[in-house]
Amino acid sequence: MLLACATFSIMSLVKSQNQQGFISLDCGLPSNESYIEPSTDLTFISDVNFIRGGKTGNIQNNSRTKFIFKPYKVLRYFPDGIRNCYSLSVKQGTKYLIRTLFFYGNYDGLNTSPRFDLFLGPNIWRSIDVLKAGVGDGVVEEIIHVTRSNILDICLVKTGTSTPMISAIELRPLRYDTYTARTGSLKSMAHFYFTNSDEAIRYPEDVYDRVWEPYSQPEWTQINTTRNVSSFSYGYNPPQGVIKTASIPTNVSEPFIFTWNLESFDDETYAYLYFAEIQQLKVNETREFKILANGVDYTSYVPMKFEAETLSNPAPIRCEGGVCRVQLLKTPKSNLPPLMNAIEIFSVIQFPQSETNTDDINAIKNIQSTYQLSRISWQGDPCVPKQFSWIGVSCNVIDISTPPRIIALDLSSSGLTGVIPPSIQNLTLLRELDLSNNNLTGQVPEFLAKIKSLLVIHLRGNNLRGSVPQVLQDREKNDGLKLFVDPNIKRRRPHQPRSWLLAIVASISCVAVTIIVLVLIFIFRRRKSSTSKVIHPSLEMKSRRFKYSEVKEMTNNFQVVLGKGGFGVVYHGFLNNEQVAIKVLSQSSTQGYKEFKTEVELLLRVHHVNLVSLVGYCDEGNDLALIYDFMENGNLKEHLSGKRGGSVLNWSSRLKIAFESALGLFFYVLGIEYLHIGCKPPIWFIEM
Ligand SMILES: *[C@@H]1O[C@H](CO)[C@@H](O)[C@H](O)[C@H]1NC(C)=O
Ligand SMILES: *[C@@H]1O[C@H](CO)[C@@H](O)[C@H](O)[C@H]1NC(C)=O
Ligand SMILES: *[C@@H]1O[C@H](CO)[C@@H](O)[C@H](O)[C@H]1NC(C)=O
Repeated sequence: MLLACATFSIMSLVKSQNQQGFISLDCGLPSNESYIEPSTDLTFISDVNFIRGGKTGNIQNNSRTKFIFKPYKVLRYFPDGIRNCYSLSVKQGTKYLIRTLFFYGNYDGLNTSPRFDLFLGPNIWRSIDVLKAGVGDGVVEEIIHVTRSNILDICLVKTGTSTPMISAIELRPLRYDTYTARTGSLKSMAHFYFTNSDEAIRYPEDVYDRVWEPYSQPEWTQINTTRNVSSFSYGYNPPQGVIKTASIPTNVSEPFIFTWNLESFDDETYAYLYFAEIQQLKVNETREFKILANGVDYTSYVPMKFEAETLSNPAPIRCEGGVCRVQLLKTPKSNLPPLMNAIEIFSVIQFPQSETNTDDINAIKNIQSTYQLSRISWQGDPCVPKQFSWIGVSCNVIDISTPPRIIALDLSSSGLTGVIPPSIQNLTLLRELDLSNNNLTGQVPEFLAKIKSLLVIHLRGNNLRGSVPQVLQDREKNDGLKLFVDPNIKRRRPHQPRSWLLAIVASISCVAVTIIVLVLIFIFRRRKSSTSKVIHPSLEMKSRRFKYSEVKEMTNNFQVVLGKGGFGVVYHGFLNNEQVAIKVLSQSSTQGYKEFKTEVELLLRVHHVNLVSLVGYCDEGNDLALIYDFMENGNLKEHLSGKRGGSVLNWSSRLKIAFESALGLFFYVLGIEYLHIGCKPPIWFIEM
């Protein structure tokens, strides 16, 4: 007695635990009502909190419907809107058995079969034709599906003139490692247990609340046991009532054959076969058989003694002509017929369309609840399928496998009150936001600037106050954001922190460059003054200019020729007792006057120890000459090419020269460019 009590309380504890995670909605039940369904012990609740539209319908009371399962007695029908969706809170990545039930019961007195489409999120699940598809007055649609987010939308879509309706929704979490399809989800075709009883078995006998229908064929004989059958079976847990009975071919020599038809020839199917030896075999008895089931193929299978085993095809199979067959054939050494206890059959169903980005969904639902928006189209996925996308929401839909993104939100003239909700900023790819002509109050929020993709914001026709935040003004200025606000919302004058900062940075750079240039000049001058070898030409260009007669004098009338170049002859000369090389431009030279001037200007400004430095020039009519420092060891080119012998520069020195010369030129260019363009008023490069 005590023991019995203890067992009972443990049992009920297990029961209530097992029911955890179950969702059982009795559609059409008045709000806040719930009940325990007596035959299953399942608690059914009203669907009101999971749907926004619809009306309650009651099936007709007659002898046929008298003993109908209680949840089917009321239903919800949807005269309004094209798509009506249930939105259920689930755990993402959970494998669920999802069952929807439609029991017509002539609730509308029209006696016509309701026809509509059933959607799972953005994907079509099934076209429903309640009376045609089902047995009797109703139809059940069931799938095994892994949830992709924390919300599961089940939608009924109007396809013609008839009104969509639904009686019940049931969700049962399953073990993740059971019922595994390679791709897609599994659509239930049958859960049969082989018996001549006529009772269906479900919860609480079946911990997952699969509904096992009895099944039998005339050529079969049923056997059963009263002994307990161990039924864990890798998590498939067939109920005792299912596994304790089996069928065998009545004629021991005949094979056991079970066939089923696929809806379409190219459907893929999975079969789960349940076996357990439920007879106490004598020593001279053997049961062994061959299993032929396109994919579940065993040459000699022996069912486990009083222990359930589930066999299934690891890969989906197609069946020739859409007809699938399981055959069990007795092996020669077996003297007992083959046996099978139960079978489950599924076809593969694909739900290829990806749901909208989860963050976008959360944000838009948050906005919806903040503003209590009751737009009829705002149900289910906001973006897909495109023909049902939410009015006022525009999306970027790239392809079916990429989650769509919300890119525009139009809530103009929607009677919105309160402040602009922060969840808008979670619509991170939003380009256009229209909140005009509402009764929004508060300030223009700074967070709008955080949505980097925003191009247009309409806020006119509201009761906003304050000014346009600086960050938004910056976005207007820098990113071309268009912000439309009422005239009372002012933009502050351009003494803006950021442009102010820019100004400072600009000034600092200006000053820095000026300082660098001045320092360079200073160094340059100091080195000049500290090197006695170098002539000191005046800093002013014109004082470095020599007359032709002076050139003549320096070269002692062009006496000593140092070399000949492409553009003239180089002579040796003296200037203030220092040796100079004077390049005299020949009249026939291709180097024109402009190039000559450029070289003069460039070489007068750029000074590098390794570059031949220009001492002066002559520019008198057609007589052009350049006066350089005389390099005892020949010119740089000769150094570099090693022509002079003895002092060949190594490569690192050459690179150093090249680099430093380039640096000199860089400062020259930078100085001129920057000081002319970058500074106001322009600081002209100081002539050296
Ligand atoms: C049993 O099956 C075998 C093989 O098909 C057949 O020859 C035999 O006649 C059958 N027996 C009965 C009683 O039907
Ligand atoms: C096994 O042996 C028993 C006798 O012990 C006999 O009655 C029975 O028919 C035998 N079964 C088979 C399948 O040969
Ligand atoms: C934005 O999304 C994040 C994460 O998705 C969430 O933590 C945060 O609360 C959301 N912010 C708003 C204002 O909704």
